[in-house]
Amino acid sequence: MIVVTGATGKLGTLVVEGLIDRVPAEQIAVVVRDAAKAARLGGLGVEVRVADYDDPAALGDAFREGEKVLLISGSEVGRRVPQHRAVIDAAEAAGVALLAYTSILGGPAADFELAREHQVTERYLIDSGVPYVLLRNGWYHENYTEGLAGAVAAGALTTSTAEGARIATAARADFAAAAVAVLTTEGHEGRAYELAGDTAWTFEEFAAEVARQSGRDFPVNRVSGEELRGILTGQGVPDPFAAVLVGVDDAISRGLLDDGSGDLSKLAGRPTTPVAEAIAEGLRS
Ligand SMILES: NC(=O)c1ccc[n+]([C@@H]2O[C@H](COP(=O)([O-])OP(=O)(O)OC[C@H]3O[C@@H](n4cnc5c(N)ncnc54)[C@H](OP(=O)(O)O)[C@@H]3O)[C@@H](O)[C@H]2O)c1
Repeated sequence: MIVVTGATGKLGTLVVEGLIDRVPAEQIAVVVRDAAKAARLGGLGVEVRVADYDDPAALGDAFREGEKVLLISGSEVGRRVPQHRAVIDAAEAAGVALLAYTSILGGPAADFELAREHQVTERYLIDSGVPYVLLRNGWYHENYTEGLAGAVAAGALTTSTAEGARIATAARADFAAAAVAVLTTEGHEGRAYELAGDTAWTFEEFAAEVARQSGRDFPVNRVSGEELRGILTGQGVPDPFAAVLVGVDDAISRGLLDDGSGDLSKLAGRPTTPVAEAIAEGLRS
């Protein structure tokens, strides 16, 4: 059995869809916190198990001996260390055959605040003795392309990254394909995959492509970290999270979200999705 947590999320949905193309639905289970959201998956023949990452007792029933598990990192930043520990503890108690974890590009080298919970989780997983594989995911294209039409209407791409900084994003679907490969083929135990797009881009290149496709002016608006923090809080982002996002731009400036390993396209078995495709999709939505 292959078990996917976070299966009602955007990445998890793509992973389960990819698994269904490769293995019979009866060999797939999902662990979700909201059974109603998983009704469609249940209808496809996937086994639905209900457990919240915050509920160790329910997680105690979420996994079985010998299963391969994908732990999709939680979305509640600041609460994820105890949540991930609870999932790993449950997987260990069940005796799973493999636990794949969606971590952060660079792993221990990712020294920015948003990466911290991933680093602690990686360490905990490695020390647990559970057979593991680390899917160190870089940034999704969609972080920049969802709601792009609105950003174009606002008139500029605001960033506190340094001029010339490069980031190697890939589509969520690319990261999902890598996870599917790891769950359905052998030889991944103990590996750490650095997963990023084949082609890195600068913010100038991204903005120029948006301008080309939209036919609208879309300049880069370079601001300081403090200015970005103020802009984000002005848009309603809580200040601590605004600071975390400024830390991400700083990490991008230092090249931490760029990567030339090619691990993602190798695992997916195809080139990663060009960012121009995600831009086209973002402008349509
Ligand atoms: N690489 C990147 O660029 C990037 C960007 C954003 C996030 N991430 C990370 O990658 C993960 C997957 O991305 P995504 O786009 O699929 O995010 P998403 O759509 O927000 O999905 C997160 C999933 O985690 C589940 N979840 C959250 N808290 C939980 C809890 N306490 N108990 C059980 N399940 C819980 C959610 O359940 P519900 O469906 O019930 O909400 C959802 O299924 C995120 O959670 C985050 O850790 C990566």
